[in-house]
Amino acid sequence: MTDDPREEVCRLVRRARMLAAAEREAGVIDLAGTPAPAGPAAESGVPAVVGTTVAHATVPRPATPRVTPSQSQRPAATAPSSPTATYVPPRETSATSAAPAAPVRSLDLPNDVLAPFGGLDAEVAACRKCRLCELRTRTVFGEGSPTARLVFCGEAPGFDEDRTGRPFVGASGELLTAMIEKGLKLRREDVFILNTIKCRPPENRAPLADELLACRPFLERQLAVIRPTVIVALGNPASRALLGSVPGIKTIRGQVFDGFGAKIVPTFHPAYVLREPTSKRDVWTDLQTVMRLLAGPV
Ligand code: URA
Repeated sequence: MTDDPREEVCRLVRRARMLAAAEREAGVIDLAGTPAPAGPAAESGVPAVVGTTVAHATVPRPATPRVTPSQSQRPAATAPSSPTATYVPPRETSATSAAPAAPVRSLDLPNDVLAPFGGLDAEVAACRKCRLCELRTRTVFGEGSPTARLVFCGEAPGFDEDRTGRPFVGASGELLTAMIEKGLKLRREDVFILNTIKCRPPENRAPLADELLACRPFLERQLAVIRPTVIVALGNPASRALLGSVPGIKTIRGQVFDGFGAKIVPTFHPAYVLREPTSKRDVWTDLQTVMRLLAGPV
C-alpha cells in the first residue's frame, strides 16, 4: 500500500497485468467441451537415441502427409507403470497464482544449431504473410536439436514466448521440460520444440485458419529437415494442424498416427494438465508410448 493514489493505481495495474499473463498462459487450450477463455486456445528404458540422426537438410516432404491411425497399441515393454515415479508437476499452477513461472533455463546449444535449416529461421523472422506480424514482439522459430528424433509441437507462442523468442518458456514450458527431462529422461536440447504458427495471436486466441495456412510451409520445412521418428502433438490445435480434421484430443489421445514420415502421438497440452492434474496419468501413458516408439520395434 502507498499513500499516493496514483502509485497505488499503478501497483494494482501491474498486479492485474501479471495475473492476466498467468491466466493467459494457462488458458491457451481448446478442448472439446471446454469453453475457450479469452482466446484459444506426462524410468526410463529409453535408449540414448535422440540427437543421433543425420539431418537431411532441404529434403522435401509431401505437402500433405498421409495420416492414418496405427494398428497396434501395445503396452510399453520397459517403462514403469506408475506416473508418479518420474512425472513431477511444476511447483505451482500459475492459473491461480500471480507469481510468474520460473523461467525455463537457457539451452546449451552450439551457435550454428540452426544451420541445417538453411536460413529458414531468418525467413520466419522476416515473415509478413499474415496479420500476426504486426503484433508480434519476436517470432518463435522453435529450439532444440535439428537432428532430434523427437519433436514436440505446441499451438502458438504465448506472452513469454513472444517476448523471449523461445517456445514453451512459461508455466506450460516448465511442465513440458519436466515431461522431457523427468518423464522421458532426455535433455530439452535433445528434442525439438516448435509450434504450429510462429507468431503470438492476440490475447492468445486460437490461430485462425489463414494464419495456420500461411505458417504451414515453415512447419513442413522444419519437419522435413528434422525428420523426427516421433512427433508429440500437444492439444487440439497441434493435433489438427498435424493430422487434419480429427475429433477432439480426449477422443484421439491413446492412438498413434502416421504422418510427416513419423509416428504422431497426440496428448494433452501442458496448459490443460496444469488445470486438470488428473490428466497427468493419460499424459504419462502417452509418454510411455513415445518411449516405446523411440526404442523401435520390440
Ligand atoms: N508456449 C508455446 O510455445 N506454445 C504453446 O502452445 C503454449 C505455450
